[in-house]
Amino acid sequence: MRKSHLNWVELSRNNLLHNISTIRNLIGVKRKLMAVVKSNAYGHGIIETANICLKGDIDWFGVNSVEEGILLRENNITLPILILGYVALHDLENAAHHNLQMTVYNIQTTRKLDELGKILKKEIPIHIKIETGTNRQGIHGKHLFKLLDFINRSSSIKLEGISMHFANIEDTTDHSYAQVQLDTFRKIDKEFFANRSTLIRHAACTAAILLFKETYFEMVRGGIGIYGLWPSKQTKLSCSMKDENIPELKPVLTWKTKIAQIKIVPDGSYISYGCTYRTTRDSKIAVLPVGYYDGYVRAFSNISHVLIKGKRAPIRGRVCMNIILADVTDIKNVQLEDEVVLLGKQRDEEITADYLANLAGTINYEIVTNINPSLERKIV
Ligand SMILES: Cc1ncc(COP(=O)(O)O)c(C=O)c1O
Repeated sequence: MRKSHLNWVELSRNNLLHNISTIRNLIGVKRKLMAVVKSNAYGHGIIETANICLKGDIDWFGVNSVEEGILLRENNITLPILILGYVALHDLENAAHHNLQMTVYNIQTTRKLDELGKILKKEIPIHIKIETGTNRQGIHGKHLFKLLDFINRSSSIKLEGISMHFANIEDTTDHSYAQVQLDTFRKIDKEFFANRSTLIRHAACTAAILLFKETYFEMVRGGIGIYGLWPSKQTKLSCSMKDENIPELKPVLTWKTKIAQIKIVPDGSYISYGCTYRTTRDSKIAVLPVGYYDGYVRAFSNISHVLIKGKRAPIRGRVCMNIILADVTDIKNVQLEDEVVLLGKQRDEEITADYLANLAGTINYEIVTNINPSLERKIV
């Protein structure tokens, strides 16, 4: 399908590179930095984002699925790529064929990879995900012995890394559970992997990178931070409690549209589906060609704002599938096709992903990830 140009995303190359070097400064030059570009690079556009990342000092890409990994390979990306999500047994060959590394935590996958390695006559590198208390993906310490025994006897599987993921590191200022998980990871590492000097151990997501050097190991996995967003208020607060000079993250994404119609609506008129808003004065309404299909969620109905001519214009009535309506009564000289910022800066005003997340009762991750992949991503 042709990309829609009625609303589009602009990515700031400078800001993305700034965030990568901010993270690089924290972790130092020797550790590896994985740029997590899963889920269409958190809505930013996976190819556009990956291409900018390549200009920065990164070592790996992290994706969620085989499809995302193949997309990167088809766009000539040769850096190591780790699939963080599950790879179905029938897709393992495809992943191996494209040189995508896999996160493994069960014996069935490992056996299949062993068979594949023999058939393809190549060593297949894997990263074992250790269960430390998130109770999501991962293998518990008590089942590790059997898995490792199999891997040790296999000539076609190479254990390249081990990983874990924190359950409660970003949304809290109490990091005791993260500490328990880290201790578990360390204990398992010592018990099972002590003699593997080349192993890449990785645990840290953005919040861990910003807060705890002891989580860095050989590699960190940076997602939200490379997009210039803080994982949460609590992470920022925790960071400022540790050090007055908190790192500066610069948002990468601006989401824009243009005015499709301007109309005068008399006092007392209803606006949009469900008649949930009634004008309290003669109003000037701008019709904007964006809606929940694009990722501008219905929860923003009657509560969010957009920016027009550097001023905040309130959204009136329900967000529709492809249209929203902004009140521009108080903004002078508004014209057809004037640029509108849905998310990002315009002159001195800014609509942040955190502001929108707050309105919708969610997190900034979900706001940006929700932006429809079919919209154009322009690098600026
Ligand atoms: C396994 C894994 N590692 C790293 C990340 C990156 O996390 P963040 O975006 O908080 O940096 C994610 C994101 O969900 C993840 O699932």
